[in-house]
Amino acid sequence: MPLVTSTEMFKKAYEGGYAIGAFNVNNMEIIQGITEAAKEENAPLILQVSSGARKYANHTYLMKLIEAAIIETDLPICVHLDHGDTFELCKSCIDGGFTSVMIDGSHHSFEENIALTRQVVEYAHDHGVVVEGELGRLEGVEDDVKVSAEDASYTNPAQVQEFVERTGVDSLAIAIGTSHGAYKFKPGTKPQLRFDILEEVEKRLPGFPIVLHGASSVIPEFVQMINTHGGNMPDAIGVPEDMLRRAASMAVCKINIDSDLRLAMTGTIRKYFAEHPADFDPRQYLKPARAAIKEMVRHKLVDVLGCNGKA
Ligand code: G3H
Ligand code: 13P
Ligand code: ZN
Repeated sequence: MPLVTSTEMFKKAYEGGYAIGAFNVNNMEIIQGITEAAKEENAPLILQVSSGARKYANHTYLMKLIEAAIIETDLPICVHLDHGDTFELCKSCIDGGFTSVMIDGSHHSFEENIALTRQVVEYAHDHGVVVEGELGRLEGVEDDVKVSAEDASYTNPAQVQEFVERTGVDSLAIAIGTSHGAYKFKPGTKPQLRFDILEEVEKRLPGFPIVLHGASSVIPEFVQMINTHGGNMPDAIGVPEDMLRRAASMAVCKINIDSDLRLAMTGTIRKYFAEHPADFDPRQYLKPARAAIKEMVRHKLVDVLGCNGKA
């Protein structure tokens, strides 16, 4: 099966009231863990690559690893640029075989965001590639850029229709209170998302796929594993899974997960070294890390996103 765009996946997900998992990939073990779980659960997948991942692992290596995953799984897989910030970066990913790109113009003014997004959409659509835009701004860290709580802002539902019509985007990321990284909500407070904004967006864009960034649950088991094996993470609070289930049953068709992969990998490797302090064969510690990613992703696909059996 060749790489696919997310068009068909989103259509089925919207109608079926579930969401597709968009998992960030940086190396072979992460790709293997994710795709092995998806194969066993027969789930469609979006593998997304940030510009940092592309710098770290190299575009060609990542593409070839993903091609290998397609051969091994025969699943519908979409390769997506996560948080593209320039036309040139999006173009380079499109020319290099990605089937989907995000142009994140959320840091610009409304008009500048529209102009930049429109430019990417024109090039992408000419090449059979789909585009995710973003309106509203998430708090947190992406590629070393930290967006403070004061600079974060919810999506204004009154703007979404005009944005989608004028840009021609295929999906839209909105800000309803999630944020990137492991520290999403203040310790001692109850996590809350603005489902009223999501409902309003859904009303104004019926049938249109919405994307939720910053959607890791920050699984406590892995934070604890890190902290009991030499780590020192402060209270880390993620998006409760019941909220993700609710979003998936609504217009949200793509749910982005990166931090949970990082926590699963790091927690498992820390535990391995605590228990095997003399080991130095990377295969010995990467093997359980890959297995932990696989089980965590299986849990997301089956218990949270509901996309198992939908490939
Ligand atoms: O939204 C950001 C993703 O978690 C990617 O993070 O830019 O550090 O690769 P990164
Ligand atoms: P998390 O940091 O919650 O995993 O979010 C990842 C993300 O939104 C990637 O674009
Ligand atoms: Zn994101």
